[in-house]
Amino acid sequence: MKGIVLAGGSGTRLYPITKVYSKQLTIIYDKPLIYYPISILMLGGIRDILIVSNRETIPMYQTLFGDGAHLGISISYKLQEAPNGIAESFLLGESFIGGDGVSLILGDNIFYGQLDFFYEALKRTEGATIFGYRVNDPERYGVVEFDKSGRAISIEEKPKQPKSSFAVPGLYVFDNRVVEISKNIKPSPRGELEITDVNNTYLREGKLRVEKIGRGVAWLDTGTPEALLQASNFFGVIEDRQGLKVACLEEIAYLMKFINKEQFEQAINGIPRSAYRSYLERILHEE
Ligand code: G1P
Repeated sequence: MKGIVLAGGSGTRLYPITKVYSKQLTIIYDKPLIYYPISILMLGGIRDILIVSNRETIPMYQTLFGDGAHLGISISYKLQEAPNGIAESFLLGESFIGGDGVSLILGDNIFYGQLDFFYEALKRTEGATIFGYRVNDPERYGVVEFDKSGRAISIEEKPKQPKSSFAVPGLYVFDNRVVEISKNIKPSPRGELEITDVNNTYLREGKLRVEKIGRGVAWLDTGTPEALLQASNFFGVIEDRQGLKVACLEEIAYLMKFINKEQFEQAINGIPRSAYRSYLERILHEE
């Protein structure tokens, strides 16, 4: 299973923060936002990751992550010339995906909690799995409509009158057909290749599973200054209380056994003296 992180977009809703700065690099408590989605793919055991982004930001991600070797994974990069939609990442990533399935996560999506819903989806070899998460403001997202038996019957992108409170988070698991399907969809009125159109194609073919994510999992929004502050506070509280970091990629690489103890030490040695480094040293010596 391959992993794609789509981290492009203009982030205009966060102006002026995003005038010179990529949204996915804004800070959530103690680390850049993009660490959180990357951590989800890594926790899913995905070790081959493509970051799709724009010309200005790719060099910054390269500075942050390099080729991923220090994390025991492979990170490569692909340019998206213009914000042509989420589904374009499957066209840009065609050779990267090769004959595999692919999980896509949006670079501004944060999940926290028990990730079984995701791990189960990764085990399926056919079709697509997307998720439904209850929110207060579904009209801002893709929204799933369910019939009386709880079966998904439609997905609408940012409907004015949402047919349910279940938004579709930016985390998707597809079989290899997603590439062909994405080639055949047409740009929407806003000029984008919509992920919702991809999902609806799978739905029409009877190949889409929509799994509801329980209330014990946090899917946080990062679209507004208020949401960024809330997310920072959320992780500040958790990390301070537990004395454990969330989305600490070096730690995850070690715990997932992507790197051994020696490599973990090497990775730590490359980090300047900081609270982040002290934390990793503690993890190294703790077990
Ligand atoms: C995108 C998708 C939408 C999904 C959302 C999740 O919206 O189009 O279906 O619910 O991500 O974050 P966008 O953030 O591009 O407006």
